[in-house]
Parts: sequence; structure tokens; C-alpha cells
Amino acid sequence: MPCLSPFAASRLTRSFFFRGCLLHFQQAAATHKVGTVPALGGRWSRTEAAANAGCPFWRRALGQPWAVGVWRWNEHARMHIGQQHAVQVACGSSTVGAPEDKAPEEVAAGVQPDPGHIMQIGMGFMASRVLQVAVGLDLFTVLGHSAMNAEELGRALELHPRGTYDFFDALVALKLLDREGDGVDGRYRNTPSTAAFLDRNSPKWLGGIINMMNSRLYGVWGGLLGGLKTGTLQSTQGESFFDYLASSREVLVDFLEAMNSIQRPNFHLLAEKFDFQRYKSVSDAGCGLALLAIIVGGYHKHLAFNVLDLPAVTPHAQERIKAAGIADRVTVHAGDFFVDGLPDADVVFMGNILHDWNLEKKTVLIRAAYDALPVGGAFVVVEDVIDDKRRESVPGLLMSLNMLVETGDGFNFTMADFQQWCSEVGFRRFDTIPLAGASAALVAYK
Ligand SMILES: C[S@@+](CC[C@H](N)C(=O)[O-])C[C@H]1O[C@@H](n2cnc3c(N)ncnc32)[C@H](O)[C@@H]1O
Repeated sequence: MPCLSPFAASRLTRSFFFRGCLLHFQQAAATHKVGTVPALGGRWSRTEAAANAGCPFWRRALGQPWAVGVWRWNEHARMHIGQQHAVQVACGSSTVGAPEDKAPEEVAAGVQPDPGHIMQIGMGFMASRVLQVAVGLDLFTVLGHSAMNAEELGRALELHPRGTYDFFDALVALKLLDREGDGVDGRYRNTPSTAAFLDRNSPKWLGGIINMMNSRLYGVWGGLLGGLKTGTLQSTQGESFFDYLASSREVLVDFLEAMNSIQRPNFHLLAEKFDFQRYKSVSDAGCGLALLAIIVGGYHKHLAFNVLDLPAVTPHAQERIKAAGIADRVTVHAGDFFVDGLPDADVVFMGNILHDWNLEKKTVLIRAAYDALPVGGAFVVVEDVIDDKRRESVPGLLMSLNMLVETGDGFNFTMADFQQWCSEVGFRRFDTIPLAGASAALVAYK
């Protein structure tokens, strides 16, 4: 991937623009060679990386004397957004020349911190939106295994021609599409990754979570400041989160599909890594579309499942169980786990359940799990876990903020938190099984 190093970006933006030598630099950049920049009174060497990038572009910012944006790719910057899937984000490093800017030599000597990290995060939503909107349009499914030029693809997606080239080429630059040829003859096709994960016809489809980001969560996160100021959820108007979900079939199915996208790789890994052979039965509390029973039951044919969810959800779970051909091994319970407790089993499973609730309700659920297990039974929780020192786990911490804006009460937690809560209820032994991305299975044995 083309890469203009943070240092190069910083140096170029500051040295050339602050001194107002845009035109000279444009000419130098165009030659891809060593250039002379009279305003600097010296020679400027274009780095190999910048030459490879070939994509510095310059912009005059409204209200600013001069501004430059150097669009750069940073192979090393990965923002882990949402759940276990690392999303590589390409962002703009846009520096406005300002009086306090340091000279290039000072920057080179490390005097000036590089702003790339800040700008990358600050502007990361643009790249996110491009991906979210593309998934919302089902662009990757429309392309499937075919290749289309911009006009064909734009027409298939019912887009106005004004933005199509920038949109599709931004996806190419983001490595979310491949393109053979250039200009009007260029033909776009899926990359191996988008074919695997963003084409609905792929068994590995995980577009559900991106779809939910597009249709709902992007708007909900607009309320982050409100959530921080008030400590209340921003996703609904007064209703509890799960009542709100149940009020619309479309919103509910969107949510359940998103949960499946997040958990699919985790459940495959759990089926392989956790010793299910020792047990005969599993209760899945808050089962969603019963993906755990479908995947783990596929690996371990001896297991019987009890799956429980709210009455609005269980008909959808039942459909999936039937389609998977495992109805004879799965009993579906429509109920409320706070009222009805949990069906007895050798393993009690909760996938992304505890993080929905405050500590009081978390404790009720942990106690219900303990009560449903025999001695030696296992309570297995799959979540985005925060590191014990709360310094590193970007996905876990962002998911915890997501729980604030979505549910008000809910929050993510560390393994140490989990052990403490479970010990207080009576669990004796603990284990952690790393799963996909930032997700882990936390296991408490009775
Ligand atoms: C975040 S989703 C997790 C779904 C699934 N376990 C997974 O790992 O993807 C939370 C689930 O808990 C269910 N749920 C919420 N409140 C519940 C309650 N009081 N009783 C039973 N299920 C509940 C929701 O309907 C939803 O399916």
C-alpha cells in the first residue's frame, strides 16, 4: 500500500505550506524528483515513500491563508472499531500552517510531536462512512464476482453520477475494492476480503454489524456528548433499549443480524478451543438468532441446547434453528431471564449479555448462571474484554461507551472485574480463552 510516512507528511505540510510555496511544491511533486523550492532557499528531496504515494493533494481552506491536506495511508494505524474485526482506517493528515509551527529541522529532531495520530482519529469517520454507506447500498453484493465500470455500478446502485468516481475510487484507495484500468474504462471488483465478508452471498458475511453502524449507530454516537453529560442512553426516546428494538421488526432483525456478524468468528473459535466434550448440555441466555447452538452444535453433535430470549426474538431464533436442521437438539424458551431464571445445564453461556446491564443486574445474571449449573459446570461469557489496567483495549473501551449511548446502564469490564463478581457468587476457578480480535471467552467454573 502506498505510504507517506507521518514524518514526511508532517515535514512536507509544515515546511512548504507555512512558507506559502504551494505552486513550487506542486511542480516538484509532479516531477517525482528532487525539486528546488526558492521560497525555502534550498533543495527539497522527495522521499521514496512520497514518490510511491503519488497522492499529495493541496487544498485552499476556507478562512485560512493556506492549508494543505496530505492524504496518506498508514499501514501501521489500525483502529479497532466495534467488535473483533480490526478496521484499517485511512485518514487525512491535514495541517493548517500556523505561526507556532516549528521548522523542519526541529521536527526532524523530534521537537515537534507528529499530529498524524490525532488527525487520523479525528477524521477517521470519513473512511468509516464510505464503508458504511457502501455496505448500506449493498455495493459488494451487487458486484459479487463480476467487474463493472463506474457507470454500470453507479446505475445499479441508483447513484447520481456526480460522486461515483470519487466514491468508488475512495473504496479502491481504502483497499475495499480493486480496479482494473483507469478512468471510464476502469472496472471495479471485490477484493478477496470484501468478497468473503461483505458479499451477502458469502457464508462469512459480516455486513450486519456495518449495516447497523450505518443505519443506527452512527446517529446514536452523535449523542456521545449528551451521554457523557447526562449519563443516559441516547438511542431511544425514553423506552428501554430492548423494548425499543422489539417495537420494529426491521430494527430488531437489523440488530440480531449485527450480533450474528460480530459473533460468528468467535463461536467457531469457541467451538474449537473450549472443551465441550466434557459436557452434555448448554443453556444460551439471550440467544438472539441462536447462532451459538447452530455453530457449536455443528461441531459437537452430542450437545443438547436450551436457548432463551425475549418473546419478540424467539420466533426468529426458531426459524434459524429449523433451517439449520438442529430443532431436535434445541429447546427454545421465550421469557425474561430476570424473571424466569435460566434453564439448568452443564454449561451456561452468555454472549454480549453482561455488558448490557448495570452491576446490580449483572450480579443477578451471574447468580442465575451459578444456580443453573451443577458442581463442575462452566459459566462461559463472550465479550470485548477490557485489559485489567484499562490502558490498551480500544475495542473494549469503545464498546463500553457504546453501551452508555445505547443502553444507558450497560458497561464492559475487565477479567479482574469478572473474577471478582463471580467469586462473590461462589465460582471457584477461572479461565480466559482468546477469541477473534478483542473478544475473549471468560470462563468461571462452579
Ligand atoms: C447483545 S444481544 C446478544 C445476542 C447473542 N447472545 C450474541 O452473542 O450475539 C442481547 C440479547 O439479549 C436478549 N435479552 C435482552 N433482555 C433480555 C431478557 N430480559 N430476557 C431474555 N433475553 C433478553 C436480547 O433480546 C438479545 O437477543
